[in-house]
Formats: sequence, structure tokens, C-alpha cells
Amino acid sequence: MKIAFFDAKQYDKESFEIAARDSGIEFKFYDTKLNADTASLARGADGVCIFVSDTVDREVAEKLHSLGVKYIALRCAGYNNVDLKATEGKLRVVRVPAYSPYAVAEHAMAMLLTSIRRIHKAYIRTKDFNFSLSGLTGFDLHGKTVGVVGMGKIGSVFSDICRGFGMRILAYDKYPRELEGVEFTGLDRLFAESDIISLHCPLTPESYHMISGDAIAKMKKGVMIINTSRGALIDSDALLEAIKSRRVGGACLDVYEEEGDLFFEDLSGHIISDDTLARLITMPNVLVTSHQAFLTNEALKNIADVTVSNLLELERDGECANEL
Ligand code: NAI
Repeated sequence: MKIAFFDAKQYDKESFEIAARDSGIEFKFYDTKLNADTASLARGADGVCIFVSDTVDREVAEKLHSLGVKYIALRCAGYNNVDLKATEGKLRVVRVPAYSPYAVAEHAMAMLLTSIRRIHKAYIRTKDFNFSLSGLTGFDLHGKTVGVVGMGKIGSVFSDICRGFGMRILAYDKYPRELEGVEFTGLDRLFAESDIISLHCPLTPESYHMISGDAIAKMKKGVMIINTSRGALIDSDALLEAIKSRRVGGACLDVYEEEGDLFFEDLSGHIISDDTLARLITMPNVLVTSHQAFLTNEALKNIADVTVSNLLELERDGECANEL
């Protein structure tokens, strides 16, 4: 089976080459992202393997189908970048529903601690033998209320971590359930009572810009917002305004709504044309990582193993439990 692998990074190549050994799957790695201009690279392939910044809209789906491509293997959990209506009956789409909820939840907590204890600033200061503590005052997490939006695999692990810190957990989920130590509530109450809000729900038309200017107006002044889920859950312009007006006390962003052409690339020698992102990054209380939350050895191995077995199941058995 030949698979055109888009947006390939060195760490992908290493983990997928190991996972595919003796599987009969041959990956052809392309640095470029999948879109209408690059879809023709999949000519002769049985499937494509894609990540979060690749696009399968109707045009790409039709192009892939016309090239004889049968499978789309997402090497991630979220699938908001694939138009499933357009792929229906033409391309079979599989994903990796879970590879390490711990990787993402731990990154969310790492960002929160870094931000509120100013570790990123202290690191730079002490590298320069500046041992002043001025401006580094943080706050305790113990006793604070965290609002977790989306209590699925990652949200649950994040809540467990927060409980370990002695925090009170409020949760909002489309499908609330009984969970020890977690109080499910409506979004408005979660907004009103949370000192920290962490987003762990998928991006859907319903959740698009759920953190809007109106939503922020309902939050506690000085709230911390963490987003390790999908960028467009937050209206970035509204967030920027709220940071400027000091309504929001800090933001930890592993994802950004216009990250597609930016994240995962070294743009250090370039002029960034996205003014909102550029301005957010200049803020002392905004921490940005470039969709890094998944990036652990354990997650990379699981992603590669599950993707390979998804493709083998489709080809050999004609069905796969991870099909969308
Ligand atoms: P999951 O499917 O286990 O949990 C999602 C939860 O959100 C479910 O409980 C669901 O009922 C709930 N939900 C769905 N729509 C909702 C809505 N409109 N409002 C509130 N809750 C809603 O997914 P998992 O594995 O926990 O992943 C969560 C998200 O994390 C993914 O959708 C993905 O976007 C993101 N992610 C980010 C990564 C990163 O590297 N930054 C890596 C992996 C996932």
C-alpha cells in the first residue's frame, strides 16, 4: 500500500518508519501541506496521511478521488479540517482518536504553571545572571476554581491533575455525566466562577468562537484562559482586546485560529503579517506554543502505530473502528 504523507516533519518520519516496518505500507514523505495545489502529489497512492494543517475541502476531496486515492488517514484526533460531507462515498477517513491525553493535559498544566509563576521570564533572567524577583509574583493554584470545557479524555486527565493541586473543578460538556470531584454546570456559571478556564472540546460549528467578547464579559476579571484544543474556539481579536483592557489576566495558547500557515514552521527571519497573533505574542501575560501539546515520545509512537493499523484494517478487513 502506497501512502502520500503530507506535512512530514523529521519526528514523523522516524516514528512512522519504525511503525511501518514489515507492514507492507510504503510512506512517501512530502514537506508540503495537502491542499488543492498539492493534491496531485498523491497520484498513484492508495491513501494520504495528513495532520491538522492539511486541508481536505470539497475541491481536494474530489481531486484525491479522481486520482484513485481511497483513504485519508488523519494522524491526529481532531478532524475539523476535513469536509466529511465531501468525502462521503468517495474516500474513507480514519483518525487516531486518542494517542496520549496525558501529553496534552500535562502541556496545558505546564503552560499554566509557566505563565502564573513567570518561569519563562525567570529562565531568561537567570541565564543573564539577573537574580531579581521583581515582577515575578505569581498566585497559588490551591483553592482556585478551574472551569474545564469539554470533559472528554483530555479534559478528564487535566481535571485529575488540577485536583492534585487542590483546585475546585467546574465542568461544561455537551454530554454531562457523573464524575468524582467534578461539578458539571452551564457555561455561564462556569464563566462567572472560574479563575482559570481550560478548553478541551472539539471545534465544531457550535463551538466556533465560544470564547467571544460576550463570553469574556461574563468571566471573572483577571481570568486565565488556556487553549490546547483548537484555535477557533476563541475569537482572537476579542481575546486581544480583553488582554489589553486587563479583563483577561493571561492566556496560554497552544493553538491559534489562523495557525495553518504559521505553526510548525521556523519563521524567525520573516515578517509576520498576522497582526493579532503578533500583538498577542508581545503581551507579557500571553504564552504561545505552536501546537506542541501532543509532542511526546509516547504520543508519537501511538500516533504512528494506530495510523498504520488503521490503514491495514481498511485494506485487509474493509473496516476500521477508527473510521469517521
Ligand atoms: P474527546 O472526544 O475525548 O472529548 C471531547 C469532549 O468535548 C467530549 O466529552 C464531548 O462531549 C465534548 N464536547 C463536544 N462538543 C462540545 C461543545 N460544543 N461544548 C462542550 N463540550 C463539547 O476528545 P479529546 O481527546 O479529549 O480531545 C479534545 C480536543 O483536543 C480535540 O478535539 C482536539 O481538538 C484537541 N487536541 C489538541 C491537541 C494538541 O496538540 N494541541 C492534540 C490532541 C487533541
